[in-house]
Amino acid sequence: KSEETIIVCGREYVKDEWTNVTPNIMSKTPRKLHLHPSHPISIIRSLIEKHFATFQAFNDFEPAVTTKMNFDDLCIPTDHPTRIKSDNYYINANNLLRAHTSAHQLQGLRSGATKFLISGDVYRRDEIDSSHYPVFHQMEGLQYFDMAPKLTAQQVQADLASQSKLAADTIQLTDSTIIKPENPLQERHHPDAVQPVIAHLKHSLNSMVRTLFHHEPNLQVRWIDAYFPFTSPSWEMEIFYQGEWLEILGCGIVRQDLMDAAGLHDKIGWAFGCGLERLAMVLFGIPDIRLFWSEDERFLNQFASGEIVKFQPFSKYPPCLKDISFWLPETEWNENNFCEIVRGVAGDIVENVTKIDDFKHPKTQKRSLCYRITYRSMDSSEIPRNVTNEEINAIQENVRSTVEHDLA
Ligand code: PHE
Repeated sequence: KSEETIIVCGREYVKDEWTNVTPNIMSKTPRKLHLHPSHPISIIRSLIEKHFATFQAFNDFEPAVTTKMNFDDLCIPTDHPTRIKSDNYYINANNLLRAHTSAHQLQGLRSGATKFLISGDVYRRDEIDSSHYPVFHQMEGLQYFDMAPKLTAQQVQADLASQSKLAADTIQLTDSTIIKPENPLQERHHPDAVQPVIAHLKHSLNSMVRTLFHHEPNLQVRWIDAYFPFTSPSWEMEIFYQGEWLEILGCGIVRQDLMDAAGLHDKIGWAFGCGLERLAMVLFGIPDIRLFWSEDERFLNQFASGEIVKFQPFSKYPPCLKDISFWLPETEWNENNFCEIVRGVAGDIVENVTKIDDFKHPKTQKRSLCYRITYRSMDSSEIPRNVTNEEINAIQENVRSTVEHDLA
């Protein structure tokens, strides 16, 4: 194949100045962790599918999508920051690895299903730490109804009653969100039409977390206002875990433009998108997001389809810390690009990258940064034994020269 083209998910694309997918990232597209029945990601997916038992599940949409699907169809303006190159993996100017499962909302709406779930791998350039990895999994849910005056609160209640419900009094739920101008109802939605749909959405998601966390004592869950270009009003749900509030899902009332695009002018719907790794880390007690990618049987053999068990740590390889510092080049500095280089050179043995110093020379105004890279092998799959200091030194040397070459 010529230098000018690239094969992603079995299709050939012409490269251009937007192309920034890396071989390391593309190697993840065939893994499809959400479809391995005894993998934690797949276990969470099927628990959610079981909870929303009457929803149609789409699990096989390919991660290579058009910018139209990922952005335009979702009313994301052309100049919206979420499109920037340094946050996404572009195949070329018109195609990318999807950044969210919302990229398939319109496809789902056009399928004819009135309620559906979509799960899959999603890709974002990001920082590196124990809860951020450039590939993760999301599950989208969407349900729509006839627009009022036909829809009544009773009908909504009746629909909810058909969902599986599990009382878990140990969960403390707080919702102090109220409708306000900053997070408004849509113009085309009469309050009588949208209020029961909002109630249905919140109830559906509250009952989903109750189902998932019914073993977890004293779990704290809260609703907060949010903003997404493709829903209004919008909210996020967070759970309190290890001393901090973790965002587990975003949701809201689907923009009527999307319903229109699917020919559903007189319907009104809600949608949510949740992160499966976040839920799995909490439920299985998995401390590091890289573990999901492990092919070590000491990891994989701990789990079985349909079961939630606490993860037993096995690798106690010591971490190895290395610092790298440099003067910034004249060109624009972007931390995600730096992390991408570290990840590209060192792969999954990078546990964390943290900026530890940021210095501006008082006279020359030149800025220098120092980053601390934590290397630690998670398991035996990347490096067959404990990582030696020499190996790390060689990797660090490689990081150093690649940064110098690519970012200067
Ligand atoms: N796609 C959003 C995200 O990735 C989540 C979302 C889905 C929000 C559906 C609203 C409706 O953050």
